[in-house]
Amino acid sequence: MKFFIDTADIEEIRMANRRGWVDGVTTNPSLVAKTGRDHVEVLKDICAEVNGPVNAEVMSLEAEKMVAEGKEFAKLHDNIIVKIPMTEDGLIAVRQLAAEGIRTNVTLVFNPIQALMVAKAGASYVSPFVGRLDDISSPGLEMVGQIQQIYSNYGLKTETLVASIRHPIHILDSALIGADIVTIPFKVMQNLAKHPLTDRGIEAFVRDYEASQKTQ
Ligand code: E4P
Repeated sequence: MKFFIDTADIEEIRMANRRGWVDGVTTNPSLVAKTGRDHVEVLKDICAEVNGPVNAEVMSLEAEKMVAEGKEFAKLHDNIIVKIPMTEDGLIAVRQLAAEGIRTNVTLVFNPIQALMVAKAGASYVSPFVGRLDDISSPGLEMVGQIQQIYSNYGLKTETLVASIRHPIHILDSALIGADIVTIPFKVMQNLAKHPLTDRGIEAFVRDYEASQKTQ
């Protein structure tokens, strides 16, 4: 399963990349706004840092404008994926961009039928938001399982990029389901390699070894 990092913060991306945790990046308008920087400059910096897909989200809501915006993003770097919201206009834009060889990721997907529409439109990726569904007492991972089932039933090539990840269990369940990619906030990534018993084990090894050295 691939790990994307869900941030527009270049320092977080650099730290995660050094640790081998970054197969790609997702950004969105809220994440870019948090940086306080120019959108295009942020994207250029990320593309220079990461050797993998970099998602750039359009701000327009009309198909023609989304296409125009998407084409501008795509000119920035070969690794740019144009992120499009899940609307009828969005699906029109996906079809047009796909026809021109531009890869897209449809975002804000909240049920498996939306995901089927995304695949039929020819998007490269679909982003089901699990955390936001869990927040309203609707099991997000169930949706991911159903998407995987539908895509497998029909041999659909769109990759499932699980988004709105809140904690490691979302990642565990995504891996058990066989999702292609999870996009993870840096804060959550920092918990993935940790276990209190690992820490306790290291402490005991160090303590025992140091005690043995003193008695020699
Ligand atoms: C994905 O591409 C989105 O940027 C992100 O996962 C949204 O997550 P949130 O629900 O934590 O805002």
